[in-house]
Amino acid sequence: MKPKPKPRPKRPASASSAPSAPSALSDPSAHEPDTRPRQPPIDRSGAPFIRARGLRKHFDEQLVLDGIDLDVWPGEVMVLLGRSGEGKSVFLKHLLGLFWPDEGRIEIDGIDVTGLNERQMAVHRRKLGILFQDGALFDSMTVAENVAFPLREGGVSNRSEIDRRVREALEVVELAEHMDKMPVNLSGGMRKRVALARAIVPEPACVLYDEPTSGLDPVVADVINHLIRRLQRRFGLTSVVVTHDMESVWHVADRVAYLRSGQVYFQGTPDQLRHHPDPVIQDFIHGRSGMADD
Ligand SMILES: Nc1ncnc2c1ncn2[C@@H]1O[C@H](COP(=O)(O)OP(=O)(O)O)[C@@H](O)[C@H]1O
Ligand SMILES: [Mg+2]
Repeated sequence: MKPKPKPRPKRPASASSAPSAPSALSDPSAHEPDTRPRQPPIDRSGAPFIRARGLRKHFDEQLVLDGIDLDVWPGEVMVLLGRSGEGKSVFLKHLLGLFWPDEGRIEIDGIDVTGLNERQMAVHRRKLGILFQDGALFDSMTVAENVAFPLREGGVSNRSEIDRRVREALEVVELAEHMDKMPVNLSGGMRKRVALARAIVPEPACVLYDEPTSGLDPVVADVINHLIRRLQRRFGLTSVVVTHDMESVWHVADRVAYLRSGQVYFQGTPDQLRHHPDPVIQDFIHGRSGMADD
């Protein structure tokens, strides 16, 4: 995939004469703690890439979203935090047009998607890549065929173009040498990375991640977190990462929104979250339930 044109330079002008950071692809330190200064290319000069206003959704008697207001700016990694069952996946499905809100609106790339018909929605969905929680691959297809799938579905028929784009996407997730394997022969983390390559191969502007690190051991989870950052830095991708994994927050978030009782209870930077005096927030980030042993 080609790097996207950036609205702004990634690094401050004072750093621009410094040697550029090594390509993360060839960078053996890619799996080590990321100590580079965090200088994401977030562009707040125009409209947010995602703007949700007053989003309400209920299922039968249950009110799941109770007026969500949220902006995600182009190029930013927004982490959506919340306990299980708080409506995080339901929110992502609204962005994809898989659910319709009872009230409120969602603008994506300046377009109100709550008013789109199915055909218009299909066009809009191409701007979004999604890494679903189960990251389901087609077990009967090789890694390369899995990654090629969205291209073929999208009408790309030129064999050499498909091969090139599949290879490039697999190189980003460092799996190019495994492209002929069957998913059954891959570890859980590798499967997740194939699913990520499949999500980015159509070159979306934004990737939605639903619990990308859940069920992975901490080292593999760290690899996924690095890849989320890598995609942002290299391609200027906007990202929404749904998680309850605090490690992901500290590692990847430019901003965090904490969902509680169907609303955005807090939004701000990871530092603001960490130092917030509210006991509800402190209990959540330290994994305290408030329950006693006896
Ligand atoms: N299609 C559906 N029909 C009815 N209830 C649903 C549906 N999808 C989600 N819910 C309910 O909405 C609530 C939020 O779910 P979800 O967004 O999956 O939570 P999480 O924050 O863990 O991702 C849950 O109580 C769930 O049971
Ligand atoms: Mg969920």
